[in-house]
Amino acid sequence: MDKRVVVLASGSGSNLQALLDHPATSGAVRGVLTDRAGAGALERAAGAGVDAEAVAFRDYDERADWAEALAEATAALRPDLVVLAGFMRILPGAFVERWPTLNVHPSLLPAFPGAHAVEAALDWGVKVTGCTVHLVDEEVDHGPIVAQACVAVEEGDDVASLHARIQAVEHRLLPEAVALFCADRLSVDGRHVRIQP
Ligand code: GRF
Repeated sequence: MDKRVVVLASGSGSNLQALLDHPATSGAVRGVLTDRAGAGALERAAGAGVDAEAVAFRDYDERADWAEALAEATAALRPDLVVLAGFMRILPGAFVERWPTLNVHPSLLPAFPGAHAVEAALDWGVKVTGCTVHLVDEEVDHGPIVAQACVAVEEGDDVASLHARIQAVEHRLLPEAVALFCADRLSVDGRHVRIQP
């Protein structure tokens, strides 16, 4: 059975675009949800003819109400997999227990979790950083790792230049990981994700 993927994004949506452009994942993306009415991801979804909706965080008084609305909108799209592609909100445990969820993060986890990973890596003076695609659990940037790739830090890098090179790698790694899920090739054993041949 073809897998249905729902993408959650807050920003420009370049990782969403990578999923929409990749031959192994483009047909699987069945819906896009954002937490901001102005998210660029909405336009990218519209461009690809994919259902998209903003469940705008600011429209809700309570975080719990927003989370419930997001879960309802997600359920309506009947996902087999949810992908967080630059989604800048922490999801409740009930959400990530309900649907397998992948996240893409711009560091080599467990180094530099959180919202300022690229800046933190630069400040620390690391020579190599990268990106991680991982399954999401209740803790932030914590779940079992599906794929990682390295990016060298260059002399004179700033957050923008380093993040741009990390994103170029994300755009390859995330579709590959989603394609493996869609092909039923990922199995999880505790913290270990195995890729079936
Ligand atoms: C990516 O770098 C991702 O690692 C981080 O947020 C960024 C989103 O970028 N979680 P985009 O919206 O996909 O362009």
